[in-house]
Amino acid sequence: MPISATAPQGVNPLLDSRDLRLPRIADPCVLVMFGITGDLARRKLLPAVYDLAGRGLLSPAFCLVGVGRRDWDDEAMRSYVAQAVRSGARTPWRPAVWEQLAAGMRFVTLSSFDDAAAYARLTQVVEDLDARRGTGGNRAFYLSIPPGWFPTVTQQVAACGLVEEAPGAWRRVMVEKPFGHDRASAAELDALVGRIVRPDDVFRVDHYLGKETVQNILALRFANTMLEPLWDQRYVDHVQVTMAEDIGIGTRAGYYDSIGTARDVVQNHLLQLLALTAMEEPTSMEAGAVRAEKEKVLQAVSLGRGGVTDLEATTVRGRYAAGFQGGERVRGYLEEDGVPPTSRTETFAALRLEVGNRRWAGVPFYLRAGKRLARRVTEVAVVFKKPPFLPFEAASTASLGGGAVVMRIQPDEGMTMRIASKVPGTHMELRDVSMDFAYGASFNNDSPEAYERLILDALLGDAPLFPHQREVDLSWRILDPVIEHWAAAGAPEDYRPGSWGPEGATELLARDGRAWRRS
Ligand code: BG6
Repeated sequence: MPISATAPQGVNPLLDSRDLRLPRIADPCVLVMFGITGDLARRKLLPAVYDLAGRGLLSPAFCLVGVGRRDWDDEAMRSYVAQAVRSGARTPWRPAVWEQLAAGMRFVTLSSFDDAAAYARLTQVVEDLDARRGTGGNRAFYLSIPPGWFPTVTQQVAACGLVEEAPGAWRRVMVEKPFGHDRASAAELDALVGRIVRPDDVFRVDHYLGKETVQNILALRFANTMLEPLWDQRYVDHVQVTMAEDIGIGTRAGYYDSIGTARDVVQNHLLQLLALTAMEEPTSMEAGAVRAEKEKVLQAVSLGRGGVTDLEATTVRGRYAAGFQGGERVRGYLEEDGVPPTSRTETFAALRLEVGNRRWAGVPFYLRAGKRLARRVTEVAVVFKKPPFLPFEAASTASLGGGAVVMRIQPDEGMTMRIASKVPGTHMELRDVSMDFAYGASFNNDSPEAYERLILDALLGDAPLFPHQREVDLSWRILDPVIEHWAAAGAPEDYRPGSWGPEGATELLARDGRAWRRS
């Protein structure tokens, strides 16, 4: 391949640090994981750390320190991590990778989160690793713990000196959602994290932003000319964002019952999908530029319908009842282990939102998410208006649903364009057909898991895929009134497992003369 004639003298473009073929490798560091014994760490975080190591993206000096209340030694932690990796990693088990990773693993037992002596031990362990393995003093902290523990943990971490700045070394904190349970508590939580690191060193994890297909929304929108002229109120009829899961809450009642669907996934994943779909083009892919555009959209979101807010008419919540799913009898939410019989927590939420700006005025954005629905699917469907005039007989166009661009987040990752086409034959009969782009068919390599991307980015200090506190705040601004409204109402409406949610969700769109794409 010829060296570009435009390369500055002495610069080989093949060795340019921005060369996409060069792997981005994280600095040597210690990652201290609070909550390592939790479900998220076992299923996602630890396999992701191993996969990064397996792909050669962690420094050989990388160290992992688990902190928890189990009475474990380092060996016990290693065997727990090995098990998590064997059942959850994407890349094959390779003894050499494992041995290098395991050599940098330590466990520190806390009798409780305010056990000051244990934090002193933690500091010693981290300093010892710094000295033995040459981590350069770089430290990352992953807080995958219930928000109730934040005050204690941040206070202790600050007091034991672990986060004190050191010349040439970095300190970063990754915070797992939920980012508070409303606007006020999110601000408190942010202030607590702000006590241990600077705002730019806080990485708020919304794992949807780590998904390839979510990042692809920006690629589709801003690296093509074709869609942009259609992407506004002149041509778009409405937008549907769906995050449907076919599973129940499993063993997560302790977490889920105090949260519910709106706080669990609407406040973060769904509003982020809305923001990426509706935002203006950023001036670059730098964190500040992307976040600024998302913030403007979130700022413009309202629960009103043409200026009038009626939450009874624009929000719906539901709760799965007992029944059958996939040929199996399943329990209702209230019968799940650990759910109190008086619970009013929703397992389904749907909202009708509007985005008050020139591009989107009058275009409804319908969001819905739920557990125990008909199938697992996450997608954003931009549905276009019908043509103002159809020069065909009415009968030949009767079955048309309207053109749509569907960004398929999962499973079956890709994009579909739904367009009208003539059915072969002697009549002019029109029907909807799909043009599909499927990741699996176009690319040979598997997509990395969201957590691989996010852990790597945080260790590299790359912030674009992490929401800023202002986005968190603006998202709560949208949801707080909804949650307050629901709290004052009775129990959520029951729905059948394996269905597409409560009747109210169908009515939400029917009131506007529309229907969900899958219902
Ligand atoms: C999490 C929610 O953020 O996302 C869970 O807390 C949900 O309730 C999960 O099941 C779904 O993630 P994914 O990546 O499987 O769509």
